[in-house]
Amino acid sequence: MKRSLRLLIAAAIAMLIAGLSAPAQAQTRSAGLMNFSSDGRYVACSNRDSGTVTILSWPELKVQHEIPVGSHPEGVAWIGKTHKLACCVYGDDRIAILDADIGRIERSIDVFDEPYGVVSTQDGSKLCATLEFPGQVIQLDPALGVVTATWQVGQMPRGIAISRDDSFLLVTEYLTSKVLKISAADGAVQQTWDGASTDNLARQVVLSPDDQKAYFTHIRSRVTASHGNGSIFPYVSVARLTGEKIGTRLRVPMDSLLGARVTANPWDCDVSADGKRLGVVFAGTNDMYLCHILPDDYVELEYEKGVRLGNNPRAIRFSPDDKAMLIYNALDFEIVVLQVPSGIEIARVAVTDNPLSEDLLLGKKLFYTALQPMSSRSWISCASCHPDGDADGRTWQQPEGLRQTQPLAGLSWTHPVHWSADRDEVQDFEHTIQGLLMQGQGLAKRPLPDALGEPISGKSTALDALAAYTNSHKCVLSPFAKHGLSASAQRGQQLFFSAETKCATCHSGPMMSDSQPRPVAEIVRHDVGTGKDDPSERMEPKYDTPTLMGLYRSAPYLHHGKAATLKDVLTTSNPRDEHGVTSHLTESQIEDMVEFLRALPVVDPESAATAAGLKQVIK
Ligand code: HEC
Ligand code: HEC
Repeated sequence: MKRSLRLLIAAAIAMLIAGLSAPAQAQTRSAGLMNFSSDGRYVACSNRDSGTVTILSWPELKVQHEIPVGSHPEGVAWIGKTHKLACCVYGDDRIAILDADIGRIERSIDVFDEPYGVVSTQDGSKLCATLEFPGQVIQLDPALGVVTATWQVGQMPRGIAISRDDSFLLVTEYLTSKVLKISAADGAVQQTWDGASTDNLARQVVLSPDDQKAYFTHIRSRVTASHGNGSIFPYVSVARLTGEKIGTRLRVPMDSLLGARVTANPWDCDVSADGKRLGVVFAGTNDMYLCHILPDDYVELEYEKGVRLGNNPRAIRFSPDDKAMLIYNALDFEIVVLQVPSGIEIARVAVTDNPLSEDLLLGKKLFYTALQPMSSRSWISCASCHPDGDADGRTWQQPEGLRQTQPLAGLSWTHPVHWSADRDEVQDFEHTIQGLLMQGQGLAKRPLPDALGEPISGKSTALDALAAYTNSHKCVLSPFAKHGLSASAQRGQQLFFSAETKCATCHSGPMMSDSQPRPVAEIVRHDVGTGKDDPSERMEPKYDTPTLMGLYRSAPYLHHGKAATLKDVLTTSNPRDEHGVTSHLTESQIEDMVEFLRALPVVDPESAATAAGLKQVIK
């Protein structure tokens, strides 16, 4: 590029930046991974992989502080009109209160488990936060550092937004995309907007400036089709809070907004302060759409502009004056600023250093992308069904039968993989990538060896990196074991390890599974009588023993997902004592056993496995 042209562009961008200003009002009304302070002087973002929160000045976009907060920070919200903010430290079960002026944690408030989203009242006297598990909304006093109320609200709530007058909250259920309106005073549910049974993965929710509509992103998981262009669909839904259509919701398909152009994994959206535009980011196709909001209660959203972005955009916010959009590219560790409505990039700032090894970063990018070489159709990424290594809560109809998505925590210790142990290494997921589900170019050369045949590891750096990332998911301790095992759980533990029940004969070792990396000829599978109740089952009814870590949050159970609760696993799904011996147990002994299973892991099983010298597959 000519020097004069470059200077001209630089001058034009400088003018665009100078045009941005910090206006009077930008109250954080929606939890998000990135938010503006109410005076518009600061932007904060949480960096999940780094375990930090970064504070930047606006509009200069200079990093003021990067504050370490702990494991997997998620939602951040500014407290009232102050320069203090709350951050949900999801992995450490804490809400940290930060002072942005001095760049420090002021205090930490312990919560039961998994805080995800948080909002503040106008005056900053109260915070409300979602606890994804066990499905609660809590109210906190940030000045005293105490939880002042706990309400049971929905299943796995994540997104949260507060009305202008602080009277109500909107909450999204992660795995159903249901939206609940609850009283901010006592948590009473006032209205609900149900999704379709296929709707899934609703994270954040934003309110229009007049509180008449709510917008939220989600996908649709069509479990009856495991096919590259028929399984996962991207949506923004609009819930109507007032007007003639009050109580209804419209799902706007993001794959038909611009002809038949496909986008994947919508992660977050935002409404401009003037209520006229909606921006939505797609973490799977690394792009965004800017839409006109139509005041019609009918079409709702109209495509205005599309912009290609960097890796894994997870958050979007309009600047307080609506002249710019800020996008958080999680796997580039940066914020990008685009002019509205042109979409021209006007700034790009690093917010944290990449904390991942080269291998893990490459693997993670591949895991999250729905573009080539992972998929030719752009609908699906590994993360569409395994978001952040968790399960999507779905039972998929696979060609081999019904299969519940498994969480990936602790995977490196429990190879072979899949319920039927038909894959001995994660590299075998090349069959998924090149197969009907993803239809990607793939990371290894064709023809592929059989999944249990000759190893594919060591043949492709990219595939090994994908395996390294997939194997890197760690187990988290059960919230039910925070204060040690209850008396009931201890009785359950004795039953579990007793010779009568036989549970520990298969659920053995630190990971509570005899599925451990070993030569293909020595792979162990068991028929525990669960294979007969699915007519679509195509493999022999013998399965890999699953780990029991994290059961408290991974319902439904068994390979076909037919056991809704842990009690069902032990009772209705085990009528002939083929799955351990349980028929002699009394009602209260079954309850004790369930208490024990819910408390796993009590201690970090991976340290125990390392200490015991067990084999682990890193990639
Ligand atoms: C359409 C949803 C979907 C997509 C997309 C998907 N998976 Fe899965 N995954 C599942 C289901 C369902 C299972 C259980 C299947 C079985 O056991 O036969 C599973 C099982 C697994 C397991 C085994 C876990 C264990 O404990 O044995 C791993 C590893 C895995 N997937 C990795 C991946 C990777 C890597 C990708 C991307 C290349 C991917 N998945 C794409 C739904 C999906
Ligand atoms: C003979 C080996 C064996 C014995 C004994 C055994 N299990 Fe299992 N367990 C398995 C297998 C295999 C599966 C997977 C079955 C399926 O998905 O259909 C399983 C599944 C489970 C699950 C569901 C896990 C999930 O993620 O869905 C639980 C819970 C469980 N077992 C608990 C127990 C308890 C408690 C006992 C003792 C009463 C027990 N098991 C005895 C092999 C065994």
